Amino acid sequence: MKRVITYGTYDVLHYGHINLLKRAKALGDYLIVVLSSDEFNAIKNKKSYYTYEQRKTILEACRYVDLVIPEYNWEQKIEDVQKYQADIFVMGDDWEGKFDFLKEYCEVVYLPRTPDVSSTQTKEHLNKIAK
Ligand code: CTP
Repeated sequence: MKRVITYGTYDVLHYGHINLLKRAKALGDYLIVVLSSDEFNAIKNKKSYYTYEQRKTILEACRYVDLVIPEYNWEQKIEDVQKYQADIFVMGDDWEGKFDFLKEYCEVVYLPRTPDVSSTQTKEHLNKIAK
């Protein structure tokens, strides 16, 4: 069984996220999403619309996702890969090269990002039309 691991905030889930999750799952048999906790978002100066628990509930309902666990800091990736025995680490190519240090522990794959959609863009758009 091949285990795939990926990271993100996944706020206001959109089709770019689904495209990523679908392709990530297709690389193996079991997909783990390490989801930014609210504490980690604060560290990154990010504020999500949905809380961690709400984002987790939504992701768990996605057919490509097998397990959702929290991300608390930048340093936990090596430990996660080892603990969850991940064979492949996947991220969108906006992160190209950033996680190559994991190649010592597993395969590292950057998938092309879906153009013209992001959580930030969606939230900004909704804010604008609500006024
Ligand atoms: N992703 C993607 N295509 C998009 C948006 C995101 O493939 N159009 C991927 C990212 O590369 C990452 C995962 O989805 O691997 C989670 O990304 P996240 O940062 O949570 O989503 P964004 O929409 O980019 O959020 P933000 O606007 O807050 O940066």
